[in-house]
Amino acid sequence: MGTKNSYLVTIWIILANICACFSSTSEPQLFGNDTSTKWLEDYADIVSKFSLRTAEIPDDDLCYIVPGQPLTIPECEFNPDTQTFVVIHGWTVTGLFESWVAKLVTALYEKEPKANVIVVDWLTRAQQHYPTSAAYTKLVGRDVAKFVNWLQKTMDYPWEKIHLLGYSLGAHVAGIAGLLTNNKVSRITGLDPAGPTFEHADAQSTLSPDDALFVDVLHTNTRGSPDRSIGIQRPVGHVDIYPNGGTFQPGCDLQNTMKMIALTGIHNMDQIVKCSHERSIHLFIDSLVNAEEHQSMAYRCSSKETFMKGMCLNCRKNRCNMVGYGINKVRTPRGAKMYLKTREMMPFKLFHYQVKIHFFSSEKLTYTEQPLKISLYGTHNEKTDIPYVMPHLNSNSTVSFLLTTDVDVGELLMVKLRWEKDAYFSWSDWWGNSNFHIRKIRIKAGETQSKVIFSAKDGEFAYLVRGKDDAVFVKSKEDNMSRKEKMMHRRKMHGSLFKEDIQGSST
Ligand SMILES: *[C@@H]1O[C@H](CO)[C@@H](O)[C@H](O)[C@H]1NC(C)=O
Ligand SMILES: *[C@@H]1O[C@H](CO)[C@@H](O)[C@H](O)[C@H]1NC(C)=O
Ligand SMILES: *[C@@H]1O[C@H](CO)[C@@H](O)[C@H](O)[C@H]1NC(C)=O
Repeated sequence: MGTKNSYLVTIWIILANICACFSSTSEPQLFGNDTSTKWLEDYADIVSKFSLRTAEIPDDDLCYIVPGQPLTIPECEFNPDTQTFVVIHGWTVTGLFESWVAKLVTALYEKEPKANVIVVDWLTRAQQHYPTSAAYTKLVGRDVAKFVNWLQKTMDYPWEKIHLLGYSLGAHVAGIAGLLTNNKVSRITGLDPAGPTFEHADAQSTLSPDDALFVDVLHTNTRGSPDRSIGIQRPVGHVDIYPNGGTFQPGCDLQNTMKMIALTGIHNMDQIVKCSHERSIHLFIDSLVNAEEHQSMAYRCSSKETFMKGMCLNCRKNRCNMVGYGINKVRTPRGAKMYLKTREMMPFKLFHYQVKIHFFSSEKLTYTEQPLKISLYGTHNEKTDIPYVMPHLNSNSTVSFLLTTDVDVGELLMVKLRWEKDAYFSWSDWWGNSNFHIRKIRIKAGETQSKVIFSAKDGEFAYLVRGKDDAVFVKSKEDNMSRKEKMMHRRKMHGSLFKEDIQGSST
């Protein structure tokens, strides 16, 4: 692969030079001279390569479309009638394409079989010392802008069919390219845009909402101080989604990654480092291949902490959106963040619930970090013993928290709540005093937007006693929404979620 690459680079440089003899009529323009876009038509200094990959051979570059050489367009069997995805990789240690590239190409073709999936190869510049590669994003962005501009001009190809997808440094490349093209491309998807050197950089040097008609961003590895975070922490698009808070992804802890490495036999230690970073790509792939059954939803929220209290599962006024390819192209207010929780593997979708409970007790009780087990029973399925550690459990107080399930239980019918004994012996258990009574549990489902009130199954209250049986709650009579109300509710849901093109495709 390495030798083949360098061989291709050589070929390419020769081609580029031949080309330069004929085409470089003007002296190179300085970057940022917006009085002229002539530099956009100087293809001689392009170093990046643009390979039109196929669904059959998604992992190899068999045909390059070369800016300035119109014949390469039909040669590569570019389809002018469908949309085009331009995939841009990030920094690389090995100087080779990482395995996700072929996976993303395959997933894009699976979703849009007739599309053109073009992979940008800027490996030679991407395998430098990180700050060097980071600085190269400007030049690579120019290359991509020239390519896109030329492709569009040559075929009078519609701008609205162009979707750039960039990972890590590639996200900023896409942003820079989008800023420089003669017109705005339809969409840029930023997959965990790189943080180092970009967190405090200006909009011209990073991905920003001005770079395309619609910019959506997944932030998956933003742990640590802003200077040390691998992924950029601040919002840089029209929609910025922070799965699992955006800091770190489930299944990416050391233990899990070691297990995966052992199982798959991949002796690639940098998987551990990259796991959360690369998760952004796999979430996007998930949205392409599991769109029908497992479309993940994200919810706008003021903070991760508020989201974890379950307080943001609201879809009114576009406050929720689909994750990945099928995203509803609404521009949320600048700087707004959206959240969701995910599974640790594909399909990543989880169902989100806000659970609200008022705990009564006659005597004053105060607990922290109490282990609860919650079971949800619905029309389709059930999920039992979902663990939840209650940070504070006090007399006569209401708590609200986020609960997730990986199965679709359908419309909720019954809820059970159990209070586990914690590891320590407690005198209050001895005296049998640890008991709360609960009249109602209110549950709001994010994915269906339904709100259900549950009442104690037997009597006015159900009793929650530490280390004892489940407290059982059933759908309340109060919750008897009339059929008309239900229909109105459903229509409202459709209104907010499916108003716009739910495919999110640019065709
Ligand atoms: C910008 O481009 C114009 C036209 O090519 C040229 O005359 C001018 O000197 C350039 N300005 C800068 C600052 O490079
Ligand atoms: C909690 O509220 C109930 C009813 O309002 C009251 O009887 C009880 O004394 C309160 N418990 C505490 C610890 O204040
Ligand atoms: C609830 O709905 C059922 C039928 O769906 C009906 O028979 C019952 O009377 C309703 N109860 C109340 C309190 O409205």
